[in-house]
Amino acid sequence: MIEYRNLKIALLGAGSVGSRVAALLLEHGDELASRVGAGLELVGIAVRDVEAERDVTLPKELFTTDAESLILSADIVIELMGGIEPARSYILKSLNSGADVVTGNKALLALHGTELFEAAEQVGAQLFYEAAAGGAIPIIRPLRDSLAGDRVQRILGIVNGTTNFILDRMDVDGDTLEDALATATALGYAEADPTADIEGFDAAQKAAILARLAFHSAVPVEAVSREGITGVTAAQVERARRSGYVVKLLAICERVVDPVTGEEGIAARVHPALVSRLHPLAAVHGAKNAVFVEAEAAGDLMFYGAGAGGLETASAVLGDLVSAARRHVAGGPGVAESLTAHLPVLDIGKVQTRYQITLEVVDATGVLATIAGIFSDHGVSVETLEQSAAPAARPETVQPTAFGAAGHGATGADHITATLVIVTHRASEKSLAATVGSLAANPAVSSVTSVMRVEGA
Ligand code: HSE
Repeated sequence: MIEYRNLKIALLGAGSVGSRVAALLLEHGDELASRVGAGLELVGIAVRDVEAERDVTLPKELFTTDAESLILSADIVIELMGGIEPARSYILKSLNSGADVVTGNKALLALHGTELFEAAEQVGAQLFYEAAAGGAIPIIRPLRDSLAGDRVQRILGIVNGTTNFILDRMDVDGDTLEDALATATALGYAEADPTADIEGFDAAQKAAILARLAFHSAVPVEAVSREGITGVTAAQVERARRSGYVVKLLAICERVVDPVTGEEGIAARVHPALVSRLHPLAAVHGAKNAVFVEAEAAGDLMFYGAGAGGLETASAVLGDLVSAARRHVAGGPGVAESLTAHLPVLDIGKVQTRYQITLEVVDATGVLATIAGIFSDHGVSVETLEQSAAPAARPETVQPTAFGAAGHGATGADHITATLVIVTHRASEKSLAATVGSLAANPAVSSVTSVMRVEGA
């Protein structure tokens, strides 16, 4: 029995997600109303061009270009227009007028989240954003509510479908990065300008959002260390396969303790990494996303599903809408974003992980001892070392690595060379970068062909 008044819902934006949200709300409105205990009335859809083609046909009379007036008439505003402005101003206006807001705008939350959450708290409204990271995957609510009594230690996320699709094609089909990107574009996964995806900006925004929730601390997106997939070569992917790994673009957010000061903080980073084929994340294929959470009491959890797509993401938005509507019916202030831990974001140099380093070296007496000495000088312990004859004609382009120089410039043409694949025990990024610098500068090393972090072991 519905006794509460109808709640007025305003939608800003009717792109692939917004149009699906409107269609589902119109189609299943009665069912959602019974779950909420109040009618959900879509009072309007604000767009720039009311005549534009939409993915689904919606009643014309709902469309308006007057977002400001629509906002003022609403109990709940759903912002799906994307971009920073005017989305930011519209959300602030909605919150200040007492409306709850549902958004999927990760760029806006990553850049201006603190301002928006404060605005919501001041008026007792709530900002919901399940669609902002991981599309259809429930991950915001589990981190905010289900794990609120636990201590999250680390999050390893495949949070960008385009790059996962590309790396998966390289792994499964042996494609080059260029061919895999062309396929991703042809299938509509990659945008015409794929920079945000392949350079890791999209994943870094999601990392900032997930880290804030998991560690109850503000994490500015600029503090997320970021490296995209454009340096990943077919040879690295092939070598990874032979060693029992798969290359994935990971968003990693973790608690870190500064080994010198003992200070506890957070580190957040996005980069390609080697993941053991036995790890659940290795089974995430195509454009799917997954977030692997390591929590102190709960142990390991994994959340998997569609990270994008209009219909799939609409599911997350409607879930938020139902939560916002239930809140109205129950009354009382919204749940404020928890930023109570105030953990500092530490430099990536403090992070400890394992590394796989591939070198081409002169195959001569004493070279292995020299290489081992360089690792030992920097306090980096070698876990495994594999030597093979270097290929006669080197097929691999030497990429400058995130750790600095790729080599001292010797071509190896004058020497018999060998390929060394070294996996280290856990070491700090700082020590590893110094090790790579010394390796690259040593005359016995023709080139440092690859440095990859090994995660999830
Ligand atoms: N471009 C994103 C991806 C989808 O490829 O996963 C939206 O976040």
